[in-house]
Amino acid sequence: MLLVDEGTVPAALDILFKEIVHAGRCFSAGGLSTVVTSKQARGRGYGRQLVTAARERMIAQSLDLGLFTCDRPLQAFYESAGWRVLPGAVLIGGTPQAPFPSDQPGFDKVTMSDFFSAAGRQAQASFHHSRIELYPGEIDKLW
Ligand SMILES: CC(C)(COP(=O)(O)OP(=O)(O)OC[C@H]1O[C@@H](n2cnc3c(N)ncnc32)[C@H](O)[C@@H]1OP(=O)(O)O)[C@@H](O)C(=O)NCCC(=O)NCCS
Repeated sequence: MLLVDEGTVPAALDILFKEIVHAGRCFSAGGLSTVVTSKQARGRGYGRQLVTAARERMIAQSLDLGLFTCDRPLQAFYESAGWRVLPGAVLIGGTPQAPFPSDQPGFDKVTMSDFFSAAGRQAQASFHHSRIELYPGEIDKLW
């Protein structure tokens, strides 16, 4: 997803998708990756605008939920775009053979989320304080 302003692209992100199984149920999940605003364009609201639009896109695509991690200092940035902290939740990235958890030593990550569908909202509490087996693979190891 690109934010275009008068022929330039000051901000961009990727929306990733995966079917996940959590607490015995299947959910369609979306996540944010490679969120970036060019250095000279930072602090002008482009990032917030794009991250808000990504959430709206996930809703429009009828996903059950959105889920991703960020460095703790960016929590307020994502909250200002409508995302919420998923308390105590850890995302397990990588693969089952080579897991890449968001609580590994040296990481200070929080898990952000939003629950869009009725099925997602119903299961929301089961994601709290849980380890979520995302396993997105070897390329985007962790959302
Ligand atoms: C994070 C990032 C995308 C924000 O983009 P931006 O266009 O500058 O964001 P906005 O102008 O919409 O700023 C929104 C708010 O987030 C805050 N913010 C931005 N970057 C921040 C950071 N690194 N740490 C803490 N707060 C930050 C801003 O201060 C602003 O807060 P305010 O409205 O209270 O003043 C940009 O700083 C960036 O590209 N950083 C490097 C890449 C990165 O860290 N990506 C996130 C990966 S999870």
